[in-house]
Amino acid sequence: MMRYRFYVFLLVGVAILGWFLFDGAISAPVLAQEPTPTASPARRSPHQTGDCLGCHSNPEMAGRFADGKIISLYYDPKEHEGSDHFDGCRSCHDAQQEYPHKNSQSQSCDVCHLQIFDASGQSTQIFDISSYPDERAIAIEINSSCHKCHQGKFQEITDSEHTRVLERGNRFAPICVDCHGGHNITSPNEPRTKIAQICSQCHKSVYSTYKTSVHGQALEADSNPDVPTCNNCHGSHEVEGPDHIDFKAGSINLCGNCHADKELMDKYNISANVFQTYLDDFHGRTVEASLKAGDLKITKATCYDCHGVHNIQSPENELSSVYPANLQKTCQQCHPDAGITFPQAWLRHYSSTWETTPLLFAITAFYGYFIPIFIGGFVVYIVIDARRRVADKLKKRFSKSVQISESQETGK
Ligand code: HEC
Ligand code: HEC
Ligand code: HEC
Ligand code: HEC
Ligand code: HEC
Ligand code: HEC
Ligand code: HEC
Ligand code: HEC
Ligand code: HEC
Ligand code: HEC
Repeated sequence: MMRYRFYVFLLVGVAILGWFLFDGAISAPVLAQEPTPTASPARRSPHQTGDCLGCHSNPEMAGRFADGKIISLYYDPKEHEGSDHFDGCRSCHDAQQEYPHKNSQSQSCDVCHLQIFDASGQSTQIFDISSYPDERAIAIEINSSCHKCHQGKFQEITDSEHTRVLERGNRFAPICVDCHGGHNITSPNEPRTKIAQICSQCHKSVYSTYKTSVHGQALEADSNPDVPTCNNCHGSHEVEGPDHIDFKAGSINLCGNCHADKELMDKYNISANVFQTYLDDFHGRTVEASLKAGDLKITKATCYDCHGVHNIQSPENELSSVYPANLQKTCQQCHPDAGITFPQAWLRHYSSTWETTPLLFAITAFYGYFIPIFIGGFVVYIVIDARRRVADKLKKRFSKSVQISESQETGK
């Protein structure tokens, strides 16, 4: 029995020793030479196969830029979960088709082949990636590979505020991978709340305002499809802001598209008359006239000058810029001398009625009835008069011709 145990220990001991020796044997001598092909396909190294995960599946794998900043080069398969956007690593990684990669600095074989332990006892693999100035440079390089399959989208973003900002030299203006990710690409508009979150990565303060607005609250509550989110007003790829020549001019129809839609507004018990009443009012009438004349420079109030933009609230909410107590200040943006009574002398979105504005209603009604009756009566008068004159003339001519024929008869 004792003997049997001894042999087992001996066998295990030899096996462990052999394992250590064998392991040392590959690392040490082999490092001096270039990798050589192995006979058995099962043992082929990632040097030969270019199998990305053969190297990048080490969670400790990292790269160091010239300024000392370190980023992870670990590829975690979990990143792809939920994304059906996966056609093999090489479909996006043009510069890493094989190893050494296109921009590889010469790496010491030791980094992989001799485990290096840091103070905490963790094995680390840190590589020199200083051929790139920073992480952004890697993202921009990989981003150009999206072009292979999505030319149309590149076309769309060409004419956008974001691309103009990029062209002006701001490398942090958004590119495809900022909004869609690299490994975790999923549908960007499902759920619908995701769109605002995409934009909020860079437009945090706009987003936090929008979130509390009447539109934003409805969206956040249940992904309400009826309210506008960032891309309804600015676009997703052809993003434009207030500096764009026809942005302000176009904003009236933008709000109008929804707010003049009776069926939609009835759902929320909101008047669908606001668009028409705006156009009937002096601000709207002059804006419409200048748009028709092709003048896009708008100085008169549009919807958002009064209601705000990302902070739009119901007029009954005291945070609203059109809440009665805030209205004077809102008018003062453009009517600096507006006193407390200034807004009261104005109809807002109401059509004039006997109850709200009796004098104006009376004047409007007076003109509404008086002018048609007056002109109508005048026309009737002219017609009757003309008829009588024509009838008189015909009568005269008839009696003349009767006289002539009678005198001819008597002359026979
Ligand atoms: C033999 C090991 C090895 C294999 C195989 C390998 N890589 Fe790498 N990879 C590295 C090392 C080492 C670096 C660090 C910098 C360098 O040497 O380029 C790196 C860096 C990278 C980077 C950062 C940018 C860069 O070029 O430095 C990306 C992205 C990358 N690899 C993707 C891939 C993809 C995709 C594959 C498969 C097609 C792959 N790698 C296969 C070892 C490997
Ligand atoms: C749909 C395109 C796409 C595919 C497919 C893809 N990658 Fe990437 N990968 C990217 C993008 C884009 C980046 C740049 C980082 C970022 O912004 O997400 C990146 C970055 C990396 C990096 C560098 C880490 C960093 O933060 O810069 C490694 C390593 C990498 N990918 C490995 C892989 C491996 C391994 C596979 C295959 C299993 C793969 N990738 C498949 C798009 C892709
Ligand atoms: C990014 C990490 C990495 C670097 C850097 C690296 N190797 Fe490797 N190498 C590996 C991995 C992973 C294996 C596979 C190990 C295994 O299968 O057990 C490997 C296997 C090998 C093998 C085994 C034989 C084979 O081809 O299967 C040789 C030889 C080799 N490497 C040589 C080198 C040399 C020489 C260098 C430096 C010029 C180097 N390696 C740099 C990761 C690396
Ligand atoms: C090998 C071709 C290929 C490459 C490279 C590629 N895509 Fe795609 N992508 C597709 C296909 C195919 C679809 C599905 C059809 C569609 O919606 O156009 C898709 C869909 C998408 C979608 C919509 C996803 C969804 O679930 O609705 C986004 C966003 C996207 N790609 C972004 C990118 C980005 C960003 C890159 C670069 C990092 C990229 N793609 C690189 C082929 C590719
Ligand atoms: C500023 C953020 C942003 C940038 C930059 C951006 N997208 Fe998008 N993209 C979106 C949003 C938001 C949506 C979803 C809403 C929509 O469909 O309009 C979307 C939708 C998509 C879709 C799916 C919708 C469809 O038409 O099927 C694809 C594919 C896509 N983008 C690819 C790209 C590519 C490729 C690039 C780079 C040229 C890019 N995007 C740049 C925000 C962006
Ligand atoms: C990666 C960061 C980033 C993301 C994501 C992003 N933007 Fe931007 N955006 C910028 C930068 C940078 C500018 C230009 C700087 C500036 O003028 O504020 C800009 C400018 C704008 C402008 C014009 C601002 C002006 O003053 O004219 C609008 C509008 C805009 N973005 C909307 C969006 C929308 C909508 C989304 C989401 C679909 C989005 N952005 C996503 C970075 C981003
Ligand atoms: C109901 C339409 C609407 C929605 C929804 C909307 N915006 Fe705006 N946005 C506008 C208008 C109108 C302006 C111009 C305001 C001005 O000129 O003062 C503007 C201005 C901007 C600007 C530039 C000026 C500033 O305030 O910084 C950015 C950036 C912007 N929006 C981003 C966003 C983002 C991000 C979202 C989503 C969270 C969003 N917008 C949602 C209509 C909208
Ligand atoms: C995509 C359609 C859509 C667009 C575009 C839109 N809205 Fe709205 N708006 C709605 C809906 C739907 C509600 C009701 C939300 C709720 O009560 O939950 C609403 C609510 C409002 C309210 C509150 C009304 C009340 O009495 O509660 C105001 C004010 C408003 N919007 C003004 C604007 C202005 C100004 C614009 C343009 C800058 C605009 N909206 C653009 C759909 C839209
Ligand atoms: C000169 C300022 C001003 C302009 C311009 C203006 N509004 Fe208003 N709006 C108000 C005021 C004040 C109220 C509250 C009193 C009322 O309902 O008339 C209001 C109320 C509303 C309401 C709530 C109606 C309800 O039933 O609860 C909506 C929606 C609205 N406006 C949308 C718009 C749209 C869309 C435009 C552009 C087509 C616009 N407004 C232009 C000042 C303005
Ligand atoms: C974005 C700027 C702007 C805002 C905000 C604005 N207005 Fe005006 N409004 C104008 C301009 C410009 C005119 C034309 C002035 C002119 O040429 O005589 C005008 C004309 C008027 C007129 C016609 C009589 C006059 O003074 O010429 C009245 C009344 C008026 N606005 C009321 C209001 C009220 C009430 C508010 C606030 C609820 C308001 N406005 C907000 C720009 C604005």
